[in-house]
Amino acid sequence: MSSAEHTTKVYPPPASIVQGAHVSGMEAYRKLCAEAEADYEGYWARLAREFVVWKKPFTKVLNASDAPFYKWFEDGTLNVSYNCLDRNVEEGRGDKVAIIFEADDGQVTRVTYRELLEKTCRMANGLRELGVKKGDRVVIYMPMSVEGVVAMQACARIGATHSVVFGGFSAQSLRDRIEDAGAVMVITADEQMRGGKQLPLKAIVDEAIGLGGCDSVRHVVVYRRTGGQIAWTSRDRWLHELVDKQPSTCEPEWVEAEHPLFLLYTSGSTGKPKGVQHSSGGYLLHATLTTKWTFDLKPDDVFWCTADIGWVTGHTYITYGPLANGATEIVFEGVPTYPDAGRFWKMIQQHKATIFYTAPTAIRSLIKAAEANPSTHPRHYDLGSLRILGSVGEPINPAAWEWYHEHVGGGRCPIVDTWWQTETGGHMITPLPGATPLVPGSCTLPFPGIMAAIVDETGQDVPNGHGGILVIKKPWPSMIRTIWGDPERFKKSYYPAELKGYYLAGDGASRDAERGYFTITGRIDDVLNVSGHRMGTMEIESALVSHTELVAEAAVVGRPDETTGEAIVAFVVLKRPRPTGEEAKQIANELRNWVAKEIGPIAKPKDIRFGDNLPKTRSGKIMRRLLRSIAKGEAITQDTSTLENPAILEQLAQTN
Ligand code: PRX
Repeated sequence: MSSAEHTTKVYPPPASIVQGAHVSGMEAYRKLCAEAEADYEGYWARLAREFVVWKKPFTKVLNASDAPFYKWFEDGTLNVSYNCLDRNVEEGRGDKVAIIFEADDGQVTRVTYRELLEKTCRMANGLRELGVKKGDRVVIYMPMSVEGVVAMQACARIGATHSVVFGGFSAQSLRDRIEDAGAVMVITADEQMRGGKQLPLKAIVDEAIGLGGCDSVRHVVVYRRTGGQIAWTSRDRWLHELVDKQPSTCEPEWVEAEHPLFLLYTSGSTGKPKGVQHSSGGYLLHATLTTKWTFDLKPDDVFWCTADIGWVTGHTYITYGPLANGATEIVFEGVPTYPDAGRFWKMIQQHKATIFYTAPTAIRSLIKAAEANPSTHPRHYDLGSLRILGSVGEPINPAAWEWYHEHVGGGRCPIVDTWWQTETGGHMITPLPGATPLVPGSCTLPFPGIMAAIVDETGQDVPNGHGGILVIKKPWPSMIRTIWGDPERFKKSYYPAELKGYYLAGDGASRDAERGYFTITGRIDDVLNVSGHRMGTMEIESALVSHTELVAEAAVVGRPDETTGEAIVAFVVLKRPRPTGEEAKQIANELRNWVAKEIGPIAKPKDIRFGDNLPKTRSGKIMRRLLRSIAKGEAITQDTSTLENPAILEQLAQTN
């Protein structure tokens, strides 16, 4: 054991949380792990019966005959929206508030479970009237809104597979996703409101469809959010006109457990985003279970996950998990810094939020904001309602953890640092607040029943105290089922032959020698994590070189960044002489805007460097590790003897 580990600060769970917790104390945690260890299928079957209402009960648990295309609970049928809505109404929670919606301008709307069910039924009937049926794909390009959640639930109700595209993605990205999914419909809004600004959505849908390849789209349904000016075509329908005349009940489509509930596109190590396909039964089980155990969710809680429904966190911990548990949750349209950086704290105070789940980037930027403008510091707000805090999307550095713990949680709220991915559907490695002693910066231990481990390149276990590759040794109910339309890529990406049938997460990690706690060290592939958003370096490179007039070649790497975790750095060779000074600045700006147009503003490189060439081996391979060092501003200590053009390094080290 190293001396550093001796001095690690450990935060045991507060007695008040341990008492009455769903998983109370480490003994209870270990008992669940032992149950899963002893009878893996029996464990998951027990939970699937307890947490999910089945129309037709399953008799088979795991089918591994076509591994890695695993099937869970395959002969059972269910409806996800029934589980999230009708169940709560039938069990007497019809008048309970399901969603507290706060708009960008601060206006608050409350929606009960009965109302949410009726809204969902109306929209589901509307979609059916427009011919959408089980198995059809529907793209949702919506602002954070009750209607966004309802659109997802309505798809689930009729067995349509939704694919939500984050409202910050460009027309080109939207087009690619519509085409890949073969969507029959796009549900959007006229505009979205963020930080006091009106931003177009419908116009981007029009542009996306105009780019071609979207012939599958028969209808575009438009939610009127701002009343802003938009163009209208014969395929467009107003949402209110479509739903107002619909009955408020709608028989759910009972689907098989494996029926695809949704596709969600995410970045991988090649240029093309992949459509991660999730199931209905297994996914719903893990969404429901993890929301309850990881956040120790109780009937009186006010749950707030600040993610956008365009990301997996918004799917599992806004649209599905909290509702399936009959919770009251906050849905927020705006941004954390508008009208000022005290917005989150003000909302926690006003709505008496008890569980708050956000991303390290948000915390880091709010720390900075509070330093710059002390009136936005959480100490000016009453955050006494909070019980549990959560972190997701990227590693949380201990300093940010401590600040979050002390200033937001008042030193009394456990922080659950949840490690998981779009592909895993829900939490995989996370503390349980009434059981796990916390160590800042560590996501601690696997969720009971998740067989996480660290191995080397050959799949051999790595002893604690050493780093390696993070894998999941056994399939689990909410795992990715395939990549839409590309089963081969699914196998290659997640089940490489050398890893003995283990799921390859794509992250590096280590476990400490004392507790076996996991710490995630970051991606081991060409994927960056910028503000908790996953970006493929190849995707950004393709966007840059698609500017055929200007760009000859581009290489993109990540650099650690104090606020955003990682920042995007692009090395670019132009088709004209290397620019310097003002000209370099101007071209860098043009390229940044180009990337925003091709992918979305989240993919804009922070730093663009120009060179006459890129560092390459004699066989022509770009030496990315050198570029990573240059991006960090490090002196090059690596061996450069295989480099074709060593002089280029100095040139690329110059900032514009
Ligand atoms: O690198 C890990 C990082 O985010 C990646 C997954 O990104 P995405 O599919 O967009 O899902 C984000 C929300 C679940 C992972 O491969 N990551 C996620 N959570 C953590 C994390 N890294 C460290 N600690 C976490 N808690």
